[in-house]
Amino acid sequence: MRLTNTALLALVASPAAAWKHASEANIRKALTDNERTLVAFVEPSLEPCKRLDIEWTQAAKEATDAAVLSIDCTQDTKLCAELDVASYPAIRLFHRDSSRGVQRYRGVREAPDLLAFLRRAARPVPSTVDEKNFTTLLKDDFVVFVARYGKTSNDDETLPARFEQLASTYADRYTFAVSTDLTTSPSVTCYRSHGELVRTAAELDASTTALNAFIETCAAPLVVDLTRRNELHHMGTGKSLVHYLYSSASERRTYIKEVQKLAQTYGEYLQFTTVNLREYGDDMLKALGLQKSAAQKKGPLLAVQNPSNGDVFPFPAAGINNGDGPPAAAVVEKFLLDIIQGAVPPWMPGAGDGHDEL
Ligand SMILES: *[C@@H]1O[C@H](CO)[C@@H](O)[C@H](O)[C@H]1NC(C)=O
Repeated sequence: MRLTNTALLALVASPAAAWKHASEANIRKALTDNERTLVAFVEPSLEPCKRLDIEWTQAAKEATDAAVLSIDCTQDTKLCAELDVASYPAIRLFHRDSSRGVQRYRGVREAPDLLAFLRRAARPVPSTVDEKNFTTLLKDDFVVFVARYGKTSNDDETLPARFEQLASTYADRYTFAVSTDLTTSPSVTCYRSHGELVRTAAELDASTTALNAFIETCAAPLVVDLTRRNELHHMGTGKSLVHYLYSSASERRTYIKEVQKLAQTYGEYLQFTTVNLREYGDDMLKALGLQKSAAQKKGPLLAVQNPSNGDVFPFPAAGINNGDGPPAAAVVEKFLLDIIQGAVPPWMPGAGDGHDEL
C-alpha cells in the first residue's frame, strides 16, 4: 500500500519539488504543542539534503503520529547552533515528555522508514500484545520481535530482562513486543515481510550475545544497497552478485519488494544488490556491460557478477522493453536460471556492449 502511494507520488511530484521550511518560532511552538515533533535540520545546497526533499515532503504529508517539520540552518542559525547540529541533514525526534527526551534518527532517509520510526516512537517499549493482536504490529514495521515467556519462572529467568534491555537499545530501529500469553516453550520470534524466524529460549542462552546476534541476523536486509564503502565486503563473500541499477528511491523500493522472495530463495549463493545510478552508475554501467541498455533505455539495468572468476552477465539490452519500471520477479528469475543452466555466455568486454544475438 505504502509502496503504491510512493510510486504515484514519484510520478506526480516534479523532481524539483522544493520543501517548505518552518521558521525557528514555528519549530519552538511545535515542540510545545505536540507530543512528538520530528525535525530535519537542513543545509539546502548539500546533495544529501536535496535527496531528502521528496521523501521528507511525503513523510510530512502521511505522518499521523507526530508533527513533521524542517528548518533551513543557513537561514535560521540560532536554533541549529543551540542544538549543536553539526552535519546535515540531521533528523531528530523531540518528545514533549522530557523523560523520553530527544532521539536522533539514524535510519534510511526515506518516507516509509521515517514513518515506521514515528509509529515505533508512539508505542511503549516493549509493546504488550496477545496472540490475537500481535499481527497489527506487523503492518506497522519491517522487523518485529515478539517474546513469549515461560509459564514457570525457572524456564527462562533471564530472558525477560535481556529482551527488555535489547528492546530499549534498538527501539529506534525495530519493534519489540512481549506477549501476555505464556507458553511452555519460551521463545523470541522475529517477523519480517519475507518470513519469520524463531529462536527458543534455550538457543538464546544466558549471554546477551546470542540474542544480539539473532537481532542482527533477522534484521539484515535481503537486498543491500551497494556503495563504495561496502563494495569490497560484498565482493568477498564468495556469492555471485545480482545488481540492479536504479534512479530513484521509490524505484528501488518497488524492485526490492518484487525480488524479496527470490533473494530469500537463492540467498545461499546469490547476494542481491541495488546500485544508485546517480552516485555510482557510470563505473558500474561500464563494468557490468550495461552501457548500451542505459543509452537505449531498453531492458532493466540488471546484471549478475561472479567476483571469484570475474564473469559478468548483463541483462540483454534487446531482451525486453519494460518502460521505466523495475523488472518483474519472473523476468529476473528466468534470467538467473538461464545463467545457471549455461544458456547465457559471460559478457566479453571487447566484443561490444551487450548480447544482441540473444
Ligand atoms: C493487545 O491486547 C492486549 C489485551 O489483551 C492489550 O493490552 C494490548 O495493548 C494490545 N496490543 C496492541 C498492539 O494492540
